[in-house]
Amino acid sequence: MAKPKDKKQIDYRFQLMVAMSELSMKNNGSLYPWINDLNSDLLTSNISADSQKSPRMKKFRFQLLHQWLTYTLQPCRLADIGGGKGLLSHLLQEEGWQVTVIDPVQQELPPKYKNIQTGKRVLVDDRDDVAVIDSRFEEEMARDYDLLVGLHAHGCNIKIINGATKYGTGFLLIPCCVIDEPVYPVLGVSWMECLANYAMLKGHVIYPIKLNFKGQNVGFYSLGTGARAKMHSKFYRHFST
Ligand SMILES: C[S@@+](CC[C@H](N)C(=O)[O-])C[C@H]1O[C@@H](n2cnc3c(N)ncnc32)[C@H](O)[C@@H]1O
Repeated sequence: MAKPKDKKQIDYRFQLMVAMSELSMKNNGSLYPWINDLNSDLLTSNISADSQKSPRMKKFRFQLLHQWLTYTLQPCRLADIGGGKGLLSHLLQEEGWQVTVIDPVQQELPPKYKNIQTGKRVLVDDRDDVAVIDSRFEEEMARDYDLLVGLHAHGCNIKIINGATKYGTGFLLIPCCVIDEPVYPVLGVSWMECLANYAMLKGHVIYPIKLNFKGQNVGFYSLGTGARAKMHSKFYRHFST
């Protein structure tokens, strides 16, 4: 269980993201007219619909993000930046997503993981693999993807926003610490707020996301701009007026 103090901070961060997201939508006029029908519960999607009652999940961030992505978006070309062992990519690949882990530190897929729907352990076949680019993420790489994901991808957050801005790519950030970034928050501003501000200044409409795992579980995403966003957003089907 998260300590009450940590919970308070997470709740505060999420509220902040909701407020900033509303502001970003307002600034972008009527791009998303259906957005008024959304509430913050929906933004955390069906995955956490029962989370009021269920215990906090501690260590399944890849499974939870995988569920969120497959519920929210159509399969697309996704870069799992700073993806570590690649479990998120593996899960998405199983469902037809075109995924690439971009991480300078090469790591093997974990031998097993827990399926959080069935509660069963799943063995990962030795022969299973995901595409890997074993170098640091650079902005130009964004050109080849529809969605850039940075889950606790330290050192990559600003580059992800810049790459997404340059190529109209969508992105999703669940940031943790500020390491090796070209931009740092000023005193009194959280890293999340700093990043959200940066994305908004670059013209992105951002949406909050909160997943049910322990630790840094709050972030935000942008569906990109232009045709790419329309192509891979299921939201248009769910909520368009
Ligand atoms: C805190 S770990 C997070 C790994 C995984 N996403 C997770 O949630 O467990 C940060 C990862 O970012 C990778 N990384 C650090 N700098 C990077 C860069 N410039 N480009 C891509 N990956 C980077 C590290 O090698 C490491 O695997």
